[in-house]
Amino acid sequence: MRAYYFDSLPGDQRLPHDSTHPVSEETLKAIGVLYSRIPIDAAGQWEQKINAIASERAYRNHDIISISKAGLGDEFESKMKMFYEEHMHEDEEIRYILEGSGFFDVRENPTDAWIRIHLDAGDMIVLPSGIYHRFTLDMGNKTRTMRLFKDEPKWKAHARGDETDVNPYRLEYLKSFPGMRAAA
Ligand code: LAC
Ligand code: NI
Repeated sequence: MRAYYFDSLPGDQRLPHDSTHPVSEETLKAIGVLYSRIPIDAAGQWEQKINAIASERAYRNHDIISISKAGLGDEFESKMKMFYEEHMHEDEEIRYILEGSGFFDVRENPTDAWIRIHLDAGDMIVLPSGIYHRFTLDMGNKTRTMRLFKDEPKWKAHARGDETDVNPYRLEYLKSFPGMRAAA
């Protein structure tokens, strides 16, 4: 995992866009983003560790999603665009990378800056409900990811906008962390 401020310059979303200003795990924690490293070992201990985290945090379901340029074919560009639309969910977004790599961008608050988080195989991330974020593959063009869910896999993305700005889960998120500000 490597986190830094996104440079906001034009160019392919899959490029690093590294402003060279790093972001610490502490800073991520302050906006509710939790990171852990569970290396994928040949003996399969990672599976036990994932199961332990799942039962500790009451994640009752999971699935595995593969996203690749080869697999998506003609749909590649449109899917990349879709994952990259800024949105939030009413549930936590929990991801464990099994293969490949990609970027999760999360909005810092109150700065509204993008923080870019590069994840590789063995990286796990928890995005809190209500945080604005987006995802893109990197130039490797491929990930296989385990998605963990507290309940039934619910998959609604709420695009950023006036209505989502006052979504109860969004407001709850902003209240949970000191110093956060709602949209003006
Ligand atoms: C998701 C990523 C795109 O919602 O944030 O799956
Ligand atoms: Ni999402």
